[in-house]
Amino acid sequence: MEELIQLKEIKKYFPWKKYKYVKAVDGVSLSINKRDIFGLVGESGSGKTTLGRMMIHLIDSTSGSIFYKGKDITKIKKLEKNLRRNMQIVFQDPYSSLHPRKKIKDIIGSGLRTHNLVRSEGELVTKIEQFLNLVGMGEEHLYRYPHELSGGQRQRIAIARALILNPEFVVLDEPTSSLDVSVQAEILNLLKKLREEFDLTYVFITHDLYLARIITEKIAIMYLGKIMEYGDTESIFKNPLHPYTEALFSVIPKLDPQKRTKKIILKGEIPSPFDPPLGCRFHTRCMKKIGEICEKVSPPLKEVEEKHFVSCHLYD
Ligand SMILES: Nc1ncnc2c1ncn2[C@@H]1O[C@H](COP(=O)(O)OP(=O)(O)OP(=O)(O)O)[C@@H](O)[C@H]1O
Ligand SMILES: [Mg+2]
Repeated sequence: MEELIQLKEIKKYFPWKKYKYVKAVDGVSLSINKRDIFGLVGESGSGKTTLGRMMIHLIDSTSGSIFYKGKDITKIKKLEKNLRRNMQIVFQDPYSSLHPRKKIKDIIGSGLRTHNLVRSEGELVTKIEQFLNLVGMGEEHLYRYPHELSGGQRQRIAIARALILNPEFVVLDEPTSSLDVSVQAEILNLLKKLREEFDLTYVFITHDLYLARIITEKIAIMYLGKIMEYGDTESIFKNPLHPYTEALFSVIPKLDPQKRTKKIILKGEIPSPFDPPLGCRFHTRCMKKIGEICEKVSPPLKEVEEKHFVSCHLYD
């Protein structure tokens, strides 16, 4: 399988007042193959959006490397146009991600113009109409404004805007979290269909484990800027190894009464990313803490089963 993107010890520290930093992402290493649907899962504030934005060079990293097709993009100040076009993002909130005073035609078409991908106004309109249809919308929307559309339609526009540039890598940041369940399912089906059609690679960011299970093929579970566990979605759901993952999974509603397990309620709050716990990030809330080593030594991400990585001293 061909590797598309590889992260090595990537960090993002946002400066905050004098000598203080928000450690949003704190040493993440992972690799994503071409045509993966790779899930980034974790509670609010765990660093998913920050990591996703670094992957496509929307924000700089503090340290570490990001290899895109073998080239370290952290060393580049401004991405060359072709690479920029290749990596697209669909943002979390369809209400703020579309310019309120631009018509749909200009929202979808502006990238085509910047990247000189069309030669005439006629070609531009034809292409936009083609992509509107692709995301299940008609030409009648061309001259409307975002406020005249529903949330689901806006997210379709955001998807069309990203895909019209013919990218190979798309970060989907909670693309359905603001939509109701039936619309959510439509957008997920659309995304799956488009992946087949255009051979896309997705990073799918979500805090919803149920969604992660149905759409992703691999997942990384994040907690306070670090990866706790990562591997094939099926093997992680079948056999969660990290105590944090176990706790997260224990609260997913299960329809089958036979499969119901005891809910694990984590004690305390998520610690502040200004001053994350030493040792294992999760030790202050862990129900399986084994001793001092958890408080002092940060556990490395270790391959415990085939392609199933865990960062926990239980598996030393
Ligand atoms: N521009 C910024 N300046 C300072 N701190 C930031 C900035 N962006 C994010 N952070 C902080 O970094 C941490 C991670 O934020 P991030 O948005 O990546 O989390 P997330 O996992 O996407 O959360 P959510 O599920 O709520 O979207 C948070 O503590 C956040 O407050
Ligand atoms: Mg986010």
